[in-house]
Amino acid sequence: MDTLSPSLSASAFEDDALDSLDVMGSDVFLNLRNSFANIGFNESNIRDQYLFESDPDGAFILPKLHNRKTSHVSSLDALVYLFMGQESLSVDCVAQSTGSRFFSELQEVNLIQIHEGGATCQATVRIEPVKKLLVCADRFPQRSSSIEPILRPDHVYRPWDFSAQLYTRIIPHTQCESFLEMCCGSGYVCLTAAQHFAQSVCGVDINPRAIRFAEFNKKLNGIENVTTYCGDLFKPVQSRTFDRIVAHPPYVPALVDSLTYRDGGVDGERISTDLIRGIPVHLSDGGEFHSYLVLSDRIDAPAELRVRKMLGEYAQEFDVALLILAERSPASYLLKRTDPNPFTEEYEQKYEACRQLGIVKFLSTVLTIRSRRGGSPTTFRNRAISWETVRAMEGPVAKKIEERKKV
Ligand SMILES: C[S@@+](CC[C@H](N)C(=O)[O-])C[C@H]1O[C@@H](n2cnc3c(N)ncnc32)[C@H](O)[C@@H]1O
Repeated sequence: MDTLSPSLSASAFEDDALDSLDVMGSDVFLNLRNSFANIGFNESNIRDQYLFESDPDGAFILPKLHNRKTSHVSSLDALVYLFMGQESLSVDCVAQSTGSRFFSELQEVNLIQIHEGGATCQATVRIEPVKKLLVCADRFPQRSSSIEPILRPDHVYRPWDFSAQLYTRIIPHTQCESFLEMCCGSGYVCLTAAQHFAQSVCGVDINPRAIRFAEFNKKLNGIENVTTYCGDLFKPVQSRTFDRIVAHPPYVPALVDSLTYRDGGVDGERISTDLIRGIPVHLSDGGEFHSYLVLSDRIDAPAELRVRKMLGEYAQEFDVALLILAERSPASYLLKRTDPNPFTEEYEQKYEACRQLGIVKFLSTVLTIRSRRGGSPTTFRNRAISWETVRAMEGPVAKKIEERKKV
């Protein structure tokens, strides 16, 4: 997840495509997705044709487009550089390459806006393809783009970020009846589940803006069998159980939580602890929970035994498996997570808080909890297996993890 500092400026991202949602019919969305599809705006095309670089926060970004105001661009270039490169492009180039009808539709739903007295246009959101889905999320301050959006406290996270990519790959895509994504953000995992392997899908997020994005994304992709709820963890689904629960919660240590998608209290585990506590109540018999998150080993117990403790009186009913992808000492982890300068007062305070809590290691992990199938409960922690799993993955995530492994 990013380490960029949030700006609390009230002027952040004033113009919001989501305002159009309530008034638009499904035909508008159908036209839009057909136009994106006809231009070839899908994940495999884009990954094949464009060179994405990984920035220091692990986000995949496009190199800068030269002569963005004058050059002739293909229709795919125009969409990729507007919605993924966060570039400001010439209205003439974009209208010419995409066709004036599609260009007007994009304006109508407020996905792009005109600037500089009609000369240039910019995207109001990021659109990233996940396979053939179109996923809207917030633009973010990326170093290479000509637009510098401010990171707002209710920022909605994007699917092409490194940790989101990893998370998507650890979720089993086998058939299941009831699927719950906790902390669903823009909702693309819910949409994938609904499209490919789950009969009923629920998504919960505490951020109302995330739920609006998720609802927008549902309509944009014409997917109906997903229900979204705005609320704190399991509160909106209090009396229900699910066959599969998945989550990519916020886990970055923060003295004061300022970004909803990122900050997880002083040890990073504030939300994860409550999430894990809720699993025994909400997982069906035979069900599984899968999560990508950061946990810690402490002086008094390693992470996997701490997870068992969080499961409380029902702990014996579950198997717990932790695959460790990376581990760091508090000093090194906090340094990576403290922006912008190392060894600030903030860093010192976080370090002292970790010391008092007895944290000896931060672990980047894939956590699986499953309802026990006979025998005695298993607790499992492994590092080697995670590398095999990772090697079996394709694409930039695997590459990135291999790089990290060498460091
Ligand atoms: C790292 S983002 C993950 C978003 C999405 N699952 C993804 O991978 O792109 C964490 C999400 O957790 C949500 N969140 C934070 N605290 C929460 C809580 N107490 N209950 C439900 N959602 C929460 C945030 O709003 C954010 O959307």
